[in-house]
Amino acid sequence: KSKYPTTCNHLRHVESMATLPSGAGNISHLNAVILGEALASEENDHVFPSQHFSQQALVPSPDKYLEMYKRSIEDPAGFWSDIASHFYWKEKWGQQVYSENLDIRKGNINIEWFKGGVTNICYNCLDRNIDAGNGDKIAIYWEGNDPGFDATLTYSELLHKVCQLANYLKDIGVRKGDAVVIYLPMLMELPMAMLACSRIGAVHSVVFAGFSSESLAQRIIDCKPKVVITCNAVRRGSKVIQLKDIVDAALTESTQNGISVDACLTYENQLAMNRETTKWQEGRDIWWQDVVPKYPTTCAVEWVDAEDPLFLLYTSGSTGKPKGVLHTTGGYMVYTATTFKYAFDYKPSDIYWCTADCGWITGHSYVTYGPMLNGATVVVYEGAPNYPDPGRCWEIVDKYKVTIFYTAPTLVRSLMRDGNEYVTCYSRKSLRVLGSVGEPINPSAWRWFYNVVGDSRCPISDTWWQTETGGFMITPLPGAWPQKPGSATFPFFGVQPVIVDEKGIEIEGECSGYLCVKSSWPGAFRTLYGDHERYETTYFKAFPGYYFSGDGCSRDRDGYHWLTGRVDDVINVSGHRIGTAEVESALVSHPQCAEAAVVGVEHEVKGQGIYAFVTLVGGVPYSEELRKSLVLAVRNQIGAFAAPDKIHWAPGLPKTRSGKIMRRILRKIASKQFDELGDTSTLADPNVVDQLIALADC
Ligand code: WT7
Repeated sequence: KSKYPTTCNHLRHVESMATLPSGAGNISHLNAVILGEALASEENDHVFPSQHFSQQALVPSPDKYLEMYKRSIEDPAGFWSDIASHFYWKEKWGQQVYSENLDIRKGNINIEWFKGGVTNICYNCLDRNIDAGNGDKIAIYWEGNDPGFDATLTYSELLHKVCQLANYLKDIGVRKGDAVVIYLPMLMELPMAMLACSRIGAVHSVVFAGFSSESLAQRIIDCKPKVVITCNAVRRGSKVIQLKDIVDAALTESTQNGISVDACLTYENQLAMNRETTKWQEGRDIWWQDVVPKYPTTCAVEWVDAEDPLFLLYTSGSTGKPKGVLHTTGGYMVYTATTFKYAFDYKPSDIYWCTADCGWITGHSYVTYGPMLNGATVVVYEGAPNYPDPGRCWEIVDKYKVTIFYTAPTLVRSLMRDGNEYVTCYSRKSLRVLGSVGEPINPSAWRWFYNVVGDSRCPISDTWWQTETGGFMITPLPGAWPQKPGSATFPFFGVQPVIVDEKGIEIEGECSGYLCVKSSWPGAFRTLYGDHERYETTYFKAFPGYYFSGDGCSRDRDGYHWLTGRVDDVINVSGHRIGTAEVESALVSHPQCAEAAVVGVEHEVKGQGIYAFVTLVGGVPYSEELRKSLVLAVRNQIGAFAAPDKIHWAPGLPKTRSGKIMRRILRKIASKQFDELGDTSTLADPNVVDQLIALADC
């Protein structure tokens, strides 16, 4: 009998890795096919951490991982409550550390961790670290868009500013449980605003400042905030973006829908625009600098239950309506802090930089909360990663002596194309751990990141997770075991991933299928805001008994996990999740568009590009001008990052006799695999396919 519970089959593989010689292990041909590259030799290779690294690592060996993982699965309550006890709790949680039902057949889905525990995440990020003697430690190194503009905040200074803002919010009537929408670029004021909300128990909903006014309005209408926090403008690369105009338009639209906010707190970002030229609505708009600094620099904490909501973050699904992913306080706190610590082998002397924007989950969990719960020094960069030239990232790494650098494969690929000189002319010798997130990292990008950026010295943590999971789910622990370029490796403590077939049957050993999780973890989202039924249907009905991630995954003979991308109607563009239905609904809102079908297509830099088939209203001719205005419709409704890469004119769409669009065929046409269209005989009108092929290059 195995010495591991049947729930951790992959562990047998990990165990064998401990003694595996370099280069051993056979290729799983499947992975090469799925990753779309001929990787035979790469797949075979293991990249071993140096002895030097492993010796100093928090988890130095597969054995140590196994020991900790095993405990986390066999005794989740004990494992997580030991970790949770390192945080500050006003009152300890109740008898039951967690309770869960992930099986829809047994009743409503329900997940709770540390229920009855009373705490505050802002207190744990700031006050607790300051009390431990780290008040003068740098919390944030802020680097502006333009070289030469920067600022710093120590933990004490950050606390003072957070308290002033928290006092202001309280003064204008924001109470525990109230929503606050934050629409800010990567200024220090963004993490500050998140922390001010959590300090007073308000529920923040950060909207990425690249979203259009319509998307912002949609989110405001859904969560009905008391206040919107924004700034007048921001510099991004060589452009100035007037955010306040976007907010004004969103607030006008939400007022028309019966939702008005009490205040629009606006930070004057003087580096981009001064207040004289900013449009203003008296009575509603308030300059941050006029009010916030007048408030006291201390603010009593609002103690909340572990299961009280911490934030809402909207993400794309397979319908046009974004989902408000809701995270609660206690479990999220414990989970983000712990995943940050182990996946990056964090030590107090580290300088950490994550290039993600706080508008996405990565910025929530791994710019703000995870690092600050560990008292880490965080670099916050305002600008574009290749501005003014593709060497900017490494200039910043050298400037702040960054030790942990966490980014997305799309950036790696784009910098790789710009040439090694931009990298090698900087020292980068401070770096010791690299991280990747957002989409599968193809092995050639992995190798470039490892060899060129990290000088073959720094392990790469390829972290697989989602907005819904709150924190890392499958990730290497640097130093613990050999890596395989392109594999996210093994599950984090407490996570039980399973691969199921289309019938929902768990498959073991070397296999590929749908990635699910079979028990809860502290950082799991608890519901979709205002729609628990959609939560249950989307995530728990497809494969009863499991949380379904929406991703495909294969496991190789050594037990390594290889993520293969979304299996639902979600496209991953540069690590940003975009629902095909959202883009389609933006396109059909154009008066000359009759019908649209959107699919993802492989893209050299972005991972996936957006490919839209568009049928026009009868009699309207194709034109370049029309193409542009269709793209503009998407930019206006969603945001520039969702703009289609290709509009394919479609006299008709391939549909079954019952009217269902056959996306399988559209995907083949989009990737020009015309001889792999498969069976088209069930189409209502098979001629449509030939017409589409004929128009492929128009
Ligand atoms: C989707 C989640 C998690 C923060 C960023 C995106 C894809 C994410 C990886 C990875 C392969 C990955 C998945 C997932 N994804 N990280 N390391 N390897 N795929 O968060 O917007 O919620 O998107 O991103 O497809 O489902 P998100």
